[in-house]
Amino acid sequence: MQGTQGGGIGPGLSPVDRRTLLFCNFILAVAWGQVNFTGDQVLRVLAKNEKQLSLLRDLEIQKPQKVDFWRGPARPSLPVDMRVPFSELPSVKAYLKSHGLAYSVMIKDIQVLLDEERDAMARSRRLERSTNGFSYSSYHTLEEIYNWIDNFVAEHSNLVSKIHIGKSFENRSILVLKFSTGGPNRTAIWIDTGIHSREWITHATGIWISQKIVNAYSKDHVLKKVLNTMDIFIEIVTNPDGFAFTHSMNRLWRKNKSIQPGIVCVGVDLNRNWRTGFGGNGSNKNPCSETYRGPAPESEPEVAAIVAFITGHGNFKAMISIHSYSQMVMYPYGHSLEPVPNHKELFELAKDAVKALYKVHGMEYIFGSISTTLYSASGITVDWAYDSGIKYAFSFELRDTGQYGFLLPASQIVPTAEETWMALRTIMKHTLNHPY
Ligand SMILES: *[C@@H]1O[C@H](CO)[C@@H](O)[C@H](O)[C@H]1NC(C)=O
Ligand SMILES: *[C@@H]1O[C@H](CO)[C@@H](O)[C@H](O)[C@H]1NC(C)=O
Ligand SMILES: *[C@@H]1O[C@H](CO)[C@@H](O)[C@H](O)[C@H]1NC(C)=O
Ligand SMILES: *[C@@H]1O[C@H](CO)[C@@H](O)[C@H](O)[C@H]1NC(C)=O
Ligand SMILES: *[C@@H]1O[C@H](CO)[C@@H](O)[C@H](O)[C@H]1NC(C)=O
Ligand SMILES: [Zn+2]
Repeated sequence: MQGTQGGGIGPGLSPVDRRTLLFCNFILAVAWGQVNFTGDQVLRVLAKNEKQLSLLRDLEIQKPQKVDFWRGPARPSLPVDMRVPFSELPSVKAYLKSHGLAYSVMIKDIQVLLDEERDAMARSRRLERSTNGFSYSSYHTLEEIYNWIDNFVAEHSNLVSKIHIGKSFENRSILVLKFSTGGPNRTAIWIDTGIHSREWITHATGIWISQKIVNAYSKDHVLKKVLNTMDIFIEIVTNPDGFAFTHSMNRLWRKNKSIQPGIVCVGVDLNRNWRTGFGGNGSNKNPCSETYRGPAPESEPEVAAIVAFITGHGNFKAMISIHSYSQMVMYPYGHSLEPVPNHKELFELAKDAVKALYKVHGMEYIFGSISTTLYSASGITVDWAYDSGIKYAFSFELRDTGQYGFLLPASQIVPTAEETWMALRTIMKHTLNHPY
C-alpha cells in the first residue's frame, strides 16, 4: 500500500493507476476504521509475591477495559504483561511505582508493530496475486484462509475433506478439516487453533501443519501409521467472528462477538465457556472482562458446535487446543489443583513433546498441569476433553515469551509451526501406541 501511493494524483493517470488509487483508498478507509494503538504500550511487571500479584489483579477491577492483560497475574515466577492505552500510561505507571512494583516497557508503541504487520501482509498479498500462490510464511484474513481451505481440499481430496460443524454468532461457517485414509468410525485426534482470535500465530501454524500432513504422509512412517489407523481433525479458525474482527477493527480482540440484551460489553471468552468447572476460579462473571465466561456453559455457538461434533463422533482419543503466547505445553486440570488420575503419563508425554520441539530450533517450553504451570482457569477446552473421556488432552502456548507477544512477526510462522509439528507428532505417536 505504501509503495503504490507515491505515484502522484493528476489528470495523467492511466485507468490502471486510477484503479490502483481507488483500491488504496479502499484499504485506507478500512485502516481508518480500525482501533488506533498509537502510543499504547505493553508493560512487563515482575511481581515479587502474592500480595503484589493481587495489586495487579486490582488494576483490572479499578480500570475496567483500560488494562488488557496479555499474560495475567499468575505466580510470582511468571511475568505479567499488560497493554495500557497511551492515555492511561501516566496513572498506571504511577500506580505501579507507588506500590513498589518493578516494571519494564516490553513494547514501546504497539501501532508500530501493527503497521509493520499490515505492510508485510500487503506485500505478501501482492506476491500471492502475481504468482497465484499461497504463502505459508504470511498472515491471512478469514476470507483468504477459507479460500485456501477450499483449494487445499480440492487438491488433496484423497486425504482431506471439509466438514461444516455449525455457525458462529454472526452466522459464519465453522469449518473442520478431516484427514483420513478411510474406514468407518476410526479413533481420532482433534486439534484446534485460534479460539482466541488475536493469537494469529496459532491459525498460521494450523495451516502449515495441515499442509505438512499431506506432504509428509507418504514419507513419514510415524504419520503414515497414525493415518492408517486414526483420523485427524483440525479446526483452524475456531472463533471466526473474533478473527474477522481482529482484521477489520481491533487486532487485539480475544473474545467472540456475542451480544446480550442490556449488556454493553461484547463477547465471551470461549476458553471459559466449557461445562467442566464452569464458573470456577480463573473465570469472570463480569461481561466486560477479557475472561468473561458467558451466561451458561456452552452458551456460545462456537463451543457448542465442537461439543456436539466430538460427542456425536464418540471416538476421539486426543484433543489439543493451541494458544499463544508463553511457550508451554500443558494438560488438565485448569479448574483445580488436584492432579488428574493420569497425571504421570501426561507429565511424561508433555516432557517428550517439549523435548521433540526443542530439537527443531532450540526453543524452550515449560510443561505441567495448567493450574500449576500457568494459573487456575475454569471452563476450558482441555478440562472438558479430559472429563469427557479424552485422556490425551493438551493445551499449547506457542511462541514467544514476550518480545512481541501476540504480534509475532510473520518471519517466525514457519519455524514455530515446524517445532510445534514435532511436539504434535510425539503426542499422536503416543496416542497410536497406547490405545484405550
Ligand atoms: C493514530 O493516532 C495517531 C496519534 O493520535 C495519529 O498520528 C495517526 O495518524 C493515527 N493513525 C490513523 C491511521 O488514524
Ligand atoms: C443469523 O441467522 C439467523 C437465522 O438465519 C438470524 O435469526 C440471526 O439474526 C442472524 N444473526 C446475525 C448476527 O446476523
Ligand atoms: C459470544 O458470546 C455470547 C455470550 O455473550 C454468546 O451468546 C454468543 O453466541 C457468542 N458468539 C459466538 C460467535 O460464539
Ligand atoms: C464408534 O466407536 C466408539 C468406540 O468404539 C463407540 O463408542 C461409538 O458408539 C461408535 N460410533 C459409531 C457411530 O459407530
Ligand atoms: C478457588 O480458590 C480459592 C482461593 O484460592 C480456594 O479456597 C478454593 O478452594 C478454590 N475453588 C476451587 C473450586 O478450586
Ligand atoms: Zn489463548
